[in-house]
Amino acid sequence: MSTDRRVVLASDNPGKFREMQALLGDVNLIPQGELGIEGAEETAVTFVENALLKARHAARESGLAAIADDSGLVVPALGGAPGVWSARYAGEPKSDAVNNAKLIAALRGAPDRSAHFHCTLVFLRSAEDPDPLIVSRAWYGVVVEQPRGGNGFGYDPHFLVESRGCTAAELDAATKNALSHRGQACRALAELLAEKSQS
Ligand code: IMP
Repeated sequence: MSTDRRVVLASDNPGKFREMQALLGDVNLIPQGELGIEGAEETAVTFVENALLKARHAARESGLAAIADDSGLVVPALGGAPGVWSARYAGEPKSDAVNNAKLIAALRGAPDRSAHFHCTLVFLRSAEDPDPLIVSRAWYGVVVEQPRGGNGFGYDPHFLVESRGCTAAELDAATKNALSHRGQACRALAELLAEKSQS
């Protein structure tokens, strides 16, 4: 990495910013909104392509290094849906409740209710960086019909974490962070950045 530790975060989500800044302590993360940068449209069909296009846009607009993430729920019995369309699975305006209702209806009677959350994180040194750092991590569980728990967001109330016997929405934030796709990916990226800064 260069000696300029400023890195623009290609997200407007304050929760993600706090979580990622805590895990990537060595870099000075700046949310793209603070630089007047609007988010790129997520037009790709894979998490990695979406994360790359968001990071590239933020790097180009800011002239800084950039980090972007893309995440979602992947359900094999639904051909991978909701996948990269997780936020807007049931259309606009986006709603967790309506997305969850659509998911539960789609899985009614399905013998396989397994699912995983996926998170890809991308770090670009510049918009033209030919060698981005990319990490992807998954968190496996089962989609349950009845929602449980009031923490988290999105599909958490229907995502059963079998090792804990509860849904993701029943976990406190620190426990979710220790287990989740995003927590795992952030720690992996932090390690990679530390390795690169020593080489
Ligand atoms: P994004 O990466 O913030 O765009 O997230 C995409 C969508 O995936 C979210 O709006 C949620 O619907 C879903 N999602 C991603 N991560 C999680 C999670 O940790 N819990 C529940 N839903 C999630």
